[in-house]
Amino acid sequence: MAEKDFILKNYNKNFVGDKYSWSSPSNIALVKYWGKKKQQIPANPSISFTLDACKTTTTLTCSKKENNTDFSFEIFLDGEKKDDFKPKIQTFLERIEVYVPFLRDYHFVIDTKNTFPHSSGIASSASGMSALSLCLMSMEKALNPEISDEFFNQKASFLARLGSGSACRSIEGDLIVWGNHKEIPNSSDLFGVKYPFEVHENFKNYHDTILLVDKGEKQVSSTVGHNLMHNHPFAEQRFAQAHENLSKLVSIFKEGDLKSFIKIVESEALTLHGMMMTSMPYFILMKPNTLEIINKIWRFRQDTGLHICFTLDAGANVHILYPEKEAKEIYEFINNELVVYCQNGHYICDRIGFGAKKIS
Ligand code: DP6
Repeated sequence: MAEKDFILKNYNKNFVGDKYSWSSPSNIALVKYWGKKKQQIPANPSISFTLDACKTTTTLTCSKKENNTDFSFEIFLDGEKKDDFKPKIQTFLERIEVYVPFLRDYHFVIDTKNTFPHSSGIASSASGMSALSLCLMSMEKALNPEISDEFFNQKASFLARLGSGSACRSIEGDLIVWGNHKEIPNSSDLFGVKYPFEVHENFKNYHDTILLVDKGEKQVSSTVGHNLMHNHPFAEQRFAQAHENLSKLVSIFKEGDLKSFIKIVESEALTLHGMMMTSMPYFILMKPNTLEIINKIWRFRQDTGLHICFTLDAGANVHILYPEKEAKEIYEFINNELVVYCQNGHYICDRIGFGAKKIS
């Protein structure tokens, strides 16, 4: 599929409007997307676990309007009007308009809520942008009922990418690849695809307990961070490393090799933050408690031989990943020894999930 294949051409111009609801999860990258080109094209491929509990539910109400000069929309979070979200949505609509040309003909009310608190330091852009894209795709399907389920998901992911890169990995589950990779058939820079190869039982029902170390607004947004990969002294090597790490994961997933999995996942997390520390300007998003938690995890792993590991996204919070069969002991350790490092003792128990759901 190329960009032009996503342009909607023939559709019902007399459609008066309707209401669509989707709930879409967040995701956690194992190989990280960090660095992008124009039009939200990633500088390297990434792979993520789709999550289950952390999600956004969005209802989109559309009604035909008189003139089609401007975009017209209102946005609500938990029932409260959120005008500060408008610029991001406006940019999103501008980017996707060529593919969904009906946008200016309708007034939209976007009603959204997250299962996790807005001020948890957990980015809602992946779940939020994917939920909104799915609602728009339901509208497209109403205007053009011909489209297949496969096209529906692909285009939802394609649109979500234009809202926020990582959002394109939230449509389906449980393992999603985004970005061209020579060993992953049909992988694309334009949308996420399901990981196509065998995955060992060890990775089924994998857990992700998210320790909320710092719930404040990040000092440096992901968008700024991505841009600092332009002219970054280590960029090319980093992009090559992401390709290699994804190649290595293929046999790791097949064999169920948890030890090698841990090495790659933790190295990816620290490399991501290494890129932040070595860009110009440089910045640090980890907090002292992030490091306390990492050190405790390493000690516990050494002492017990259990397969606990961490990953980070662009913030101070720590995602603790562990297999189902060791969940009881690891959860006890988290509860007894790590929760003290969380802001107000807050954490979220999540696990691998299977993608977005339509709400009727
Ligand atoms: C560190 O998808 O939030 O979480 O495309 O600018 O919206 P934009 O960036 P975003 O970047 C996520 C970066 C990351 C790694 C990852 O999820 O792969």
